[in-house]
Amino acid sequence: MTGLNKKRLLLGVSGGIAAYKSAFLARLLIKAGAQVRVVMTQGAQAFVQPLTFQALTGNPVHTGLLDPEAEAGMGHIELARWADLIMIAPTTADLMARLATGQAGDLLTTLCLASKAPVHLAPAMNQAMWQHPATQRNAQLLTELGYTLIPPAEGEQACGDIGAGRLPEPEELFSWIENFFKASFLESGQPEPTKKLGEGLRITITAGPTQEPLDPVRYLSNHSSGKMGYALAAAAAEQGAEVQLISGPVNLAVPTGVNCTQVITAAQMLDACEKLRSTTDIFIACAAVADYRAEAVADQKMKKQANQDELILKLVKNPDILATMAKATVDKHKSRPFCVGFAAETQQVEDYAQDKLVRKNLDAIVANDVSDSSIGFGSDENRVTLFTRSDQQINRQALPQSSKQVLGQALIAKLLAFYKEQQAL
Ligand code: C5P
Repeated sequence: MTGLNKKRLLLGVSGGIAAYKSAFLARLLIKAGAQVRVVMTQGAQAFVQPLTFQALTGNPVHTGLLDPEAEAGMGHIELARWADLIMIAPTTADLMARLATGQAGDLLTTLCLASKAPVHLAPAMNQAMWQHPATQRNAQLLTELGYTLIPPAEGEQACGDIGAGRLPEPEELFSWIENFFKASFLESGQPEPTKKLGEGLRITITAGPTQEPLDPVRYLSNHSSGKMGYALAAAAAEQGAEVQLISGPVNLAVPTGVNCTQVITAAQMLDACEKLRSTTDIFIACAAVADYRAEAVADQKMKKQANQDELILKLVKNPDILATMAKATVDKHKSRPFCVGFAAETQQVEDYAQDKLVRKNLDAIVANDVSDSSIGFGSDENRVTLFTRSDQQINRQALPQSSKQVLGQALIAKLLAFYKEQQAL
């Protein structure tokens, strides 16, 4: 018996070439014991016949709003209440736009508004359409509205383009759904799939740069914008976690539902994190902490000396906040937080990341290549690889390039699922 036995899946299909993959997904879900009801948009029916889904699921396919025959069987509100999870695969750019603006002009969009079940969207479209600022803005809006977006896969597309925008393979979507139910189950101890993954968990996240003063007007710092850390905090709050964001100086609004402590220096950031250590379940270090600070901070502005062409600054090492939080506790009854690091590198990214994962005693690390200016520092997008560690085994998962919001959601979902798996061992 699988974790999907008797789960009620409402599978939405919108009009893209990848609609055929949904038929395979429906088959996998049925084989795993799930109950599947399919809702197709008009566009979807141009690619796959409703009869295909009817034959695979054993249930009539829902295609229209207020169709008297369908309403007599299972009305749209009943259908919205029936679902444990709504998965829309593929989700077209048009459907994303309609959902982002709360439209309810057809059955699928109406169901998304009427249902209390989590809605997971698997966008699939041409890579340029996916990259378009309008689509990315809709992705962000959808995230803020509580939808979960599954990052599209990269590779060759039906149109011949290469890039991010492919619908993940049916097996991948299946394991995404399986993980979702597994994580909900592990948390509640009973099949309560509508529970959000982060409920009852306390997550502390560091974000942004630190500024290390040299004198009252100058400091050492870096280009971190804080966007990735803030996106993670927003995603964790959306999953129902209690989120503490410890932020260096950035120009970003604190996400809804997140508690934020503003700090300037690495020492202040460490202090704020240590205060939360015993009440933190998951610690995510996303801040770009300055490695060094001035040994002595001048009281007054340092003056330029007419006869001095060189100035030698003596720097001393800053404490490693992440390694401090990840240190095994002396008291065996007190556990350390589950610790996640970031490794921003310009070369040998994956090797350095794995080395840090072990050296800093972490549970997971997110690696990204900051030498690529289209991603990473300051950019709105990122492309990362997640390494998780259990016992001595390291598992690698590459996530496709996406907006930091979408990536934040995917990372939080993966990290919460991994955290719960580890807790259940
Ligand atoms: O050693 P490195 O700076 O490359 O490690 C990066 C990871 O460690 C990031 O997760 C960063 O937030 C964290 N870090 C920290 N305190 C420091 C330096 C890095 O928490 N002083």
